[in-house]
Amino acid sequence: MSVKASAESRGGAGKKARPLACLILAAGKGTRMNSARVKVLHPLLGMPLVSYPVELAQVLGASPIVAVLGHQRAEVEQVLVARHGAGAVTVAEQAEQRGTGHATRVGLGPLSRFEGIVLILSGDVPLLRKETLRALVAKARATGGLAVLTATVPDATGYGRIVRDSAGRVQKIVEQRDATAAERTINEVNAGVYAAPADFLRKATARLSPKNAQGELYLTDVVARAAATIGAAAVAVDAGETSGINDRRQLAAAEIVMRGRINARWMEHASFRDPASTVVEPGVIIGADVEIGRNVSLRGRTVIGAGVRIDDGVILTDTDVGAGAEIKPYCVATEAKIGPSAKIGPFAHLRPGTDLGPEVHIGNFVETKKARLGRGSKANHLTYLGDVIVGDKVNVGAGTITCNYNGYEKTQTIIEDGAFIGSDSQLVAPVRIGKRAIVAAGATITRDVPDGALAITRADQKHVAGYADRVAARYQARRPAAPTSSPAKPSSPAKQG
Ligand code: UD1
Ligand code: CA
Repeated sequence: MSVKASAESRGGAGKKARPLACLILAAGKGTRMNSARVKVLHPLLGMPLVSYPVELAQVLGASPIVAVLGHQRAEVEQVLVARHGAGAVTVAEQAEQRGTGHATRVGLGPLSRFEGIVLILSGDVPLLRKETLRALVAKARATGGLAVLTATVPDATGYGRIVRDSAGRVQKIVEQRDATAAERTINEVNAGVYAAPADFLRKATARLSPKNAQGELYLTDVVARAAATIGAAAVAVDAGETSGINDRRQLAAAEIVMRGRINARWMEHASFRDPASTVVEPGVIIGADVEIGRNVSLRGRTVIGAGVRIDDGVILTDTDVGAGAEIKPYCVATEAKIGPSAKIGPFAHLRPGTDLGPEVHIGNFVETKKARLGRGSKANHLTYLGDVIVGDKVNVGAGTITCNYNGYEKTQTIIEDGAFIGSDSQLVAPVRIGKRAIVAAGATITRDVPDGALAITRADQKHVAGYADRVAARYQARRPAAPTSSPAKPSSPAKQG
């Protein structure tokens, strides 16, 4: 790694490396997506397409990173700021899409004084690897010329073809619609990714002409110019990396490729029972010795600690799971924290602001929201805990509900250490249950319960002896009339229930 990095920074020529900037071409609409949303905002594994080249450029240390935007410019810019921070990406507006050459010219605007190598990426080519781009930039640095990424594909339809001379040197790129019959048989294609010196690109894009089948300014035309001046070299790469997204089928196919890549990386130290059904988004981190069941989705900025077991059907979004925790089948958690060695589910729903301490147990059909539970506390069955702070070692009985909303505002419940909440209780907030207090089953608590006290709100139990026989006798004397609308007559009222 360090050997490689130092070779990179020396530019392979023993001199100090020229700085690297990046241009991302993303002004197009993406007509073939048939969508109201511009193509580069469609998500691939939860991340908008445009963010893939941005992250690659960042990994390569490119600065500045300029995105050429046109269609839905404001929306794309907003997403860039939200995901990468204000100022991470400079936006250049291409109001009218006059071709990739024109887009590059527009993008070079903010780079007018930049002296170095410019890496040009497309907003719709997300599967590139950083190693590939490093090799491309290294090539441009080593030769001082232009380097273009190419792939050999079985069906080159739609791509620009790489035309080489008899000695095998790159001569030019010809677009499908401008190609001769002979050129169309070439199956080495242009991936649309380039690295070249900024001053060359400034000059070459200034001279482009739209005399071609599409009447556009083609960036591809700068390759012939480079071949005639500073030199043009191809860096060939596996076609799997260079496929662009033009329609929703390609988007789905790329997602499968990316998913396989991400899963393969985590399988170095985590077990996936069925990787083909497991979705791990790019921002997720998975610790050592984690076990993941079938149909699990780990999204956003989820972090899974060491030794965690996640069973089938679990969906975690922006959730932090502490070491050794166990998440049983079909739990959903969003913006939640699950403490070490906690046990969750099956069928639990942890909503934003849930913060569970170590060894907490949350059982089936329990919903939590803005709920902090201390070490070892338990809510095992059929419970809603919202806007609540629960101390350590609290037992929340089945069917407990924090009544946190009065139709106007949310208010808080506090349950202190060691308290015991009997089943089927309602805690009407704002209310505080004291330390080691006991709430008897079926209570409706509307006032604070002192430490150590029993709170009981139910009516006394009465017994009426012989009542069952009295009711039976009454109904034997007067059978109820059968409802007239019903075709089937019940044979006896006792069987109706
Ligand atoms: C381009 C290449 C082609 C290559 C292919 C690889 C040209 C002329 N052709 O064709 O050789 O094989 O990519 O995928 O470059 N864009 C703008 N402004 C514009 C036009 C395009 O920002 O005025 C952006 C698009 O949003 C897209 C990228 O540039 O992200 C590529 O444009 P696209 O129209 O998809 O080019 P292709 O026809 O695929
Ligand atoms: Ca394209």
